[in-house]
Formats: sequence, structure tokens, C-alpha cells
Amino acid sequence: MAIEFNEKTKEFHLYNNDLSYIIKILSNNQLGNLYYGNRIHHKESFSYLLEGGWRSLAAYVFEGDTNFSLQYTKQEYPSYGATDFRYPAFEIKQSNGSKITNFEYVDHNIFNGKKKLSGLPATYVENEKEAQTLEIILYDCVIKTKLVLSYTIYEEFPVITRNAKFIYEGNEEITLTKAMSCSVDLPDYDYEMVHLAGAWSRERHIKIRKLEQGVQSIYSLRGASSAEHNPFIALKRPNTTEFEGEVYGFSFVYSGNFLGEVLVDTHNTSRVMMGIHPNMFEWILHRNETFQTPEVVMAYSNKGLNGMSQAYHKLYRTRLARGYWRDRIRPILMNNWEATSFDFNESKILKIAKTAKEIGIELFVLDDGWFGKRDDDKAGLGDWYANTKKLPDGIVGLSKKIEDMGMKFGLWFEPEMVNKDSDLYRAHPDWIIHTPNRKTSHCRNQYVLDFSRKEVVDYIYKAMSKILREASISYVKWDMNRYMTECYSVAKNAESQGRVMHEYILGVYDLYEKLTTEFPYILFESCASGGARFDPGILYYAPQGWTSDDTDAVERMKIQYGTSYVYPISCMGAHVSEVPNQQVFRTTPIETRANVAYFGAFGYELDLNTLSDEEKESVRKQVKFIKDKRELIQKGTFYRLLNPFEDNVAAWMVVSEDKSEAIVGYYKILNVVNDGFKRLKLEGLEKDKAYYINEERKEKFFGDELMYAGIPVKPELLCGNGGDFTSVIYYLKEA
Ligand code: DGJ
Repeated sequence: MAIEFNEKTKEFHLYNNDLSYIIKILSNNQLGNLYYGNRIHHKESFSYLLEGGWRSLAAYVFEGDTNFSLQYTKQEYPSYGATDFRYPAFEIKQSNGSKITNFEYVDHNIFNGKKKLSGLPATYVENEKEAQTLEIILYDCVIKTKLVLSYTIYEEFPVITRNAKFIYEGNEEITLTKAMSCSVDLPDYDYEMVHLAGAWSRERHIKIRKLEQGVQSIYSLRGASSAEHNPFIALKRPNTTEFEGEVYGFSFVYSGNFLGEVLVDTHNTSRVMMGIHPNMFEWILHRNETFQTPEVVMAYSNKGLNGMSQAYHKLYRTRLARGYWRDRIRPILMNNWEATSFDFNESKILKIAKTAKEIGIELFVLDDGWFGKRDDDKAGLGDWYANTKKLPDGIVGLSKKIEDMGMKFGLWFEPEMVNKDSDLYRAHPDWIIHTPNRKTSHCRNQYVLDFSRKEVVDYIYKAMSKILREASISYVKWDMNRYMTECYSVAKNAESQGRVMHEYILGVYDLYEKLTTEFPYILFESCASGGARFDPGILYYAPQGWTSDDTDAVERMKIQYGTSYVYPISCMGAHVSEVPNQQVFRTTPIETRANVAYFGAFGYELDLNTLSDEEKESVRKQVKFIKDKRELIQKGTFYRLLNPFEDNVAAWMVVSEDKSEAIVGYYKILNVVNDGFKRLKLEGLEKDKAYYINEERKEKFFGDELMYAGIPVKPELLCGNGGDFTSVIYYLKEA
């Protein structure tokens, strides 16, 4: 890994074993991009890659330099209106009303390691030698504004992280109306754009479309990264598969409004930008004030989509997630939500917990309904003290009883929300996000607390930390069940309203930071009506998240398969729930429900007392199995093998780092009469190693056989009665 600067040719070359990224200071002192892609040799100059040139009637050239134009130039962080007509990476409104800028190179720093982003989540290093950072300092002398573009390249990961920072040094003010985190101009558009779209209960479905001239984009304006679009785009070559070919990933480490877009111009350049959505954003800077954008993680792979995903998985698992739980084996949990909803009392909970304990479950999680007057979704949010009608000894008493049984105890909160029927709302009706003189829309009878206000965040911190200090709590499920509407903060003046949505997210991060600092041993799981805020920003604070409210095994194949494009399986909460499934009313075998949920942070979400003895026996076996295999699943390398979006089957596997073990999940969705034969080709094994499959220790199979010839899937090994929704798990161990 290195970052080279050539004084003579004014080129920066960032490279590691996998990728090269080349920036040039152009003749007008702005920044151009010469190359981003597979690693190439370093040399003095790559200036031949600078394309542009004079084109008779169609050339808009710089005054005083008729050879120079930004119109066709590939740039690093482009502005609009000075010969470039494409969408810009930023926009600054100045006191005279102009939006034209000119940021020119002044200086740069190259150093080992990576700086923290104040108040924002970001990838990090544990040792300065793991990465190098380039900061390029640009200046617009008319508006006295500094712009610092940061690039970090890791030694071990095929990624570059980027962010931008604006510092205003003038005596008036400037207004940032757009500040993306990255912009990359690629020299052609022979790509397909891959992204993860969905809705509540069908999050992160894979969408692929060919790039065309014009703009294609994904976004959120909901105040959360959203279930509708995940903050991620990949550009892959049309022939790129899961295992081969080029792909560029762009993943945004942020949990609020975002825009990810690819603009293809009519000269075939693809401009990829990602950052905070400019709508609803306006940020005024006075003298010496700064604005820091969140980080984008750009991954480059020439080993197909699995190669890209594996880079994100390892980076996010080991250098984005933090704290005590980052590398620790996650407990098997029992959550009562699908078992009881709001309808429980202490004895009902203890009954479910007792059976869970007998079966070997390690953590009991009490979900929504334990606080205030919360008997349904109409009341109680905001009142973070136990409902003693349901729980006579409060959370202190219940948590102790659960711990005395030999299990850990976890608790649900929805810190950012309030019902109007709550003591908190009655005391502070102005604490909700709402626009004066307008109706305030709601969802699930709840309103959004104005987390852009420090006093609101501090109040919730006090309420939550009190209970976390008093009771024996080892896990917190932090839920968030509605998006923002009529966004306005009555605590801010007119000119600060454009800050609300970003400051809200900074408030969420602040509360997470306070709680995770004070309670480092508590495992935080994020949730947002399932997976509506499942993004890298939240992963920095909560090492696992509830992937979706849809717990049906078949639906989960798609949701978990799509989610794995970016997110490590160790962070995907995955539970076995009851049948018929509460979301899609489908009945699947209990084995298949577990065979899907194993590839995640495993747990149960049903009342085990309602199961037959036979089913309970299956659950016992599952718990034993996952206890044995969870280290491998949590820390191994994940491969997607067969895509449920394309076929009636799905398969994936995890291989241990030393390739001595692997676990494979194969799923057949609908039964097919008189079906053909299926060979499952594995991936990631050591060609020359011999493996045993399952408990059968008679025959050995070499890695190459398993990868190139494959395992014939024997129908008799599939669980259930040979009907629909069957599956099998193979466990491979070096012989
Ligand atoms: C939505 C979550 O996704 C569910 O798991 C559950 O916690 C409910 N909220 C509770 O209201």
C-alpha cells in the first residue's frame, strides 16, 4: 500500500495490492481523476489518460486558457457552472446570490492511519500501519473557503474511504446547499447499476439495471436511510458474476437522508456520487465554522460480487463495528414479540423464559409493551419506566428473576419516539418534530422526538441510563418505527431549519455514543420496523441489527441474500418464528426456518411452550448445533452460491479463515414433480485439502472436487416430507 505524489507531474497515486486510484492537479489547479480500478504499476506520469480537448462549436473554455475546459474532464469533486454542466458534488450559495465557485489546490498531507470523523461513524484503524490517508486542501479565494478532500487506502482491504470537509474563513457567511461525500468520474458506462430496494418486511431486494445516458438514482428523504433504498450502489460489468468480473461498490456510512446517483453524460462518462440528500439540507457556515460530510466506502473487486461483499463484510465486521461485542460470540436469544405482542404479564414471560432456558437459550429479550401505559400502540412511548400492572416487580425484579434462571436479560426501547398519550408528551408537547400551524402526520400513533435538540437527547439518555444502571440488562434492542414528516424544529430559527434532518441523526449518534460508552458490555441491536435503518452508520454503534420483521424462511432467503451484498452475516438478526408465519401465513418446516436463521445472529421469536415434543426436540438440536458452529458462522468468509431471486433454489456457505471447516445451506423453495438432478458447487475451499461431509466419516472429498464437480444434492437428505420449503445443511471438516 502506498500514496505517491509526483511533484513534477502533480499526480497522486493511491494503490494497494488490489486497486489503483490516480488523481491529477489540473492546469487550472482543480482536481481531475485519471484512473480508478485494478492495481496498475506505479510510474511517473499517467497524464495521457487526461481526455478532453477542443471541439469547435461545442467547447466551453476557460477565459485566458482556450485549451482548458471542465466540460468533458473527469474530476474529483466537481462544481457546476464553470464549463461543467453536469450535476455537481456540492453547491454553495454566497452572500451576493452567486453559486459559482473555484476550489484550487493549495497543499496536501499524506500520513499513516486514519482520522476520526467528529460526531460521525466511520471505519477506523487499530494500528497506524493498516492504512494511509491523503488529505488534499483546496481553497476558493473569492469566498475564503477551504475544502479538504480525504482519501484513506487500507493495506488489507480493496477499499478507499472518502469524505469532504468545508471550512469557512470569511467574515460573512456561506450556505452549503449540497455537500456530497464522494464523486467519481468513470470513463465509460458499460455497467449495470446494482442496488438494494424494498419496503417494510421486504427489505434489500436486489435490483439490477443497465446504465443509460441520463441520471439514475436511489435516495431517502424519510429521515432514516430507509427500507425503500439502502445507501449502497454497485456498478458491475454486464458479464460480472458472483465470482468473476469487475465491480465498484459505494456504501454510505450514514443513517439519514441520502442520495446515490449515477449520471451518464453524452460523452460516455459515468459520474457516481453519494452523500446526504440535498433536498431538506441547507447549512450556513459563519467564520471558522466547518461542515464535515459522512464517509463513503468505495470497494473495488475483480472477483465478482462475492469479492466486493467479502471486502465489505470483513472491513465492517472488524473496522467499523466496535467494542466488547465486536469479536465475541453472540448469545442465542429468545424474543417475546411474535409470541405475545403487547399482551403479557410477568408470569407469562417467566413461563416462556423457563422453557427457553431448559432448551439452552442464553438471553431473554423483553420487547415492546413493558413501560408506561403501553397496552397497544396508542400510548406510552416516551415513558421509560415499568408498567407495574404487567410487571409488579418492575424491570429490576424481572431481570433478576431471568438472571436467576441462568439467562441474560435484554430490553426493548424506542428512544426517538413518543405517543401523544404519554407523560413525556404532556410535559413537553413542543419536543416533537412538527411545523407550526400545520397538521402533524403520524404513523402507528407515534411522533418523532426532536433529536436535533440537545436537551431532548439528554433527557432520553437520563431515562434510559437510569434503567440500564438499576436493572441487570445485557442487551438493548433499539427500535425506530416511523419516518419523519412535516420536518421542522421549533427550537431553531428560520435559517437553521435546513440543519434539522442531519442534526437529528447526529443526535441519534450522540445518544448511541453516550450509552455504548457508559455501558460497554451491553450488546446493542438496532431495529427500525425491521430493517428500515440497516446501514453502516448504525453498525458502528450496534454490532447487530434486526434484518426484517418478515421472519418467514422463504422471504428471509431473499432478504438475507440481498443484505449480504454489503453487510456481514454476523450483524443480521435472524430468528426462528412460529407457523403459519405472522407476515405471510406460510408454513415451513422448523428445520428450514433454522437452516436459514443459522446464517445470521441466531435466535427464536415464538412461545416454545406451544411446540410439540418433536418440535421441541428439533429446537434442542438446533441450539446445540449453533453453539458448536456460531464462531465459524460469525467469523468465516461468506459466499453466495445460488440466487433465490433467479431460481427456485438458494444456497450459501461460510468457510473458516484457515479453510479447515465450512458450513453450507441449500434450500429448495417449491417442490418440483419428477425434478432433475442438482449438483451444488462449493466455493472458497482449499483445493488440496480433503474434507469429510457431515458426521459420515467414510469418504473424503478434496476441495477441488467439491468446488469443480460439486455435491449431488440427494433429495432424501432434504428436511420435511419432501414437499415445499425443504433444505439441508452440510458441515465440512478437514479430514
Ligand atoms: C418493530 C420491530 O421490528 C419488531 O421486532 C418489534 O420490536 C415491534 N416493532 C415492537 O413494536
